[in-house]
Amino acid sequence: MKSSRRSFLEAGLGLPVLLGATPSLAVTSQAVETTASKDSSFDPWVEIHRENLRHNVQEISRRIASRPILAVIKNNGYGMGVANVARLLEPQPEIFGFAVVKLHEAICLRDAGIRKRILLLGPFDEKNLEDAVARSIIPMVYTPLGPALDNIAAKTQKPVPLHICVDTGIGRVGVPYYQAAPLVRDLAARKSVQIQGTMMTFTEDPDFDKEQLRRFNKTCAALEKEGISLGKRHAASSFGLFQHPDAFFDMVRPGMAIYGIYSENEFRRISIMDLHPAISLKARVIYAKKLRAGDSAGYNRAYVAKDDVWVATLPVGHADGWPRTAPKGAKVRIKDDLYPVIASVSASHCIVEIGREERIKIGDVATFFDAQPGSRPEDISEACGASVYDLTMHLSPLLPRHFV
Ligand SMILES: Cc1ncc(COP(=O)(O)O)c(C=O)c1O
Repeated sequence: MKSSRRSFLEAGLGLPVLLGATPSLAVTSQAVETTASKDSSFDPWVEIHRENLRHNVQEISRRIASRPILAVIKNNGYGMGVANVARLLEPQPEIFGFAVVKLHEAICLRDAGIRKRILLLGPFDEKNLEDAVARSIIPMVYTPLGPALDNIAAKTQKPVPLHICVDTGIGRVGVPYYQAAPLVRDLAARKSVQIQGTMMTFTEDPDFDKEQLRRFNKTCAALEKEGISLGKRHAASSFGLFQHPDAFFDMVRPGMAIYGIYSENEFRRISIMDLHPAISLKARVIYAKKLRAGDSAGYNRAYVAKDDVWVATLPVGHADGWPRTAPKGAKVRIKDDLYPVIASVSASHCIVEIGREERIKIGDVATFFDAQPGSRPEDISEACGASVYDLTMHLSPLLPRHFV
């Protein structure tokens, strides 16, 4: 099944996460306030694979000839926990800094002790801007904010570092490329401003991307000819790492590739980068039973057993982030075998078909996705049409995160 890469809202979940008492367990901020027995040992959990994360960063660095990497860790660090992932990535010399969309995630990173650069890709008002600058969070700017920047710089007695976002065709945020020159000139002329970067985002339409690149290059070249310094130019997301070596510029800006997941399934088949998934979703079987022929499972009797068959119930549903489309073909690994998800995915449960034999017992570990062939996030995505962005970014921030 073909899944559209961006077929989901980017709103995402962004609750801050804190490191727990032990180095191997990260818990949510809400969880910290509750008692030690808050989690049942059957509750699902997310595993974060440190070595795979490190490997992916090195793989990306090799691909981009050691340019700096601005790691996109928005939407709760693509499901890993924004502070968790920043803490793991920060010591790696290849990582230049981090990019998030929500101001509260940027602040959470500073509160967690992250010292590298943080670029705020999302919106802010003047008060937010002042708070961000006070925490050395760099705003992405594309509107005439000169007077507000003057006010802040007058208070801090320092120019405000910023990146300028140019819209070359994605139509989302960014000053339209044909209106960029007056805005950039105005900002560059102010003592209150230090332009540290200039960026754009591809639409990831192969033909139109070429036109976007031409627009960006032309806009930047004209401004540089006037003597304006644009700082580090950056454009390449994970897609760009594979498709646009001509747009690596001074820095790249990937998210999904860092987490070891191919943003497009076709990238798995070309050996440009060897990515190892660094995130897994696991739980334990809570119930196994034999259905008789004609017995049903799931709301609306979504599944009716043709013959006597064993099924297992897993405590993972769409409220945990497991897609409702999973019964269209997704399989779950229990011990060494993959079993199809059947019936319907409800808020807190799903059911897998085991077969004629009772091969599974209560307490067995079930893996929804991990780094193994057959149960990689891309396999689930291909099987049931949920994008890999849904699989990671929709993971409930309430699930415990364990480091392995
Ligand atoms: C502006 C911007 N840059 C980079 C990225 C990283 O994208 P990806 O996770 O596909 O590498 C995103 C995420 O969608 C983004 O919005």
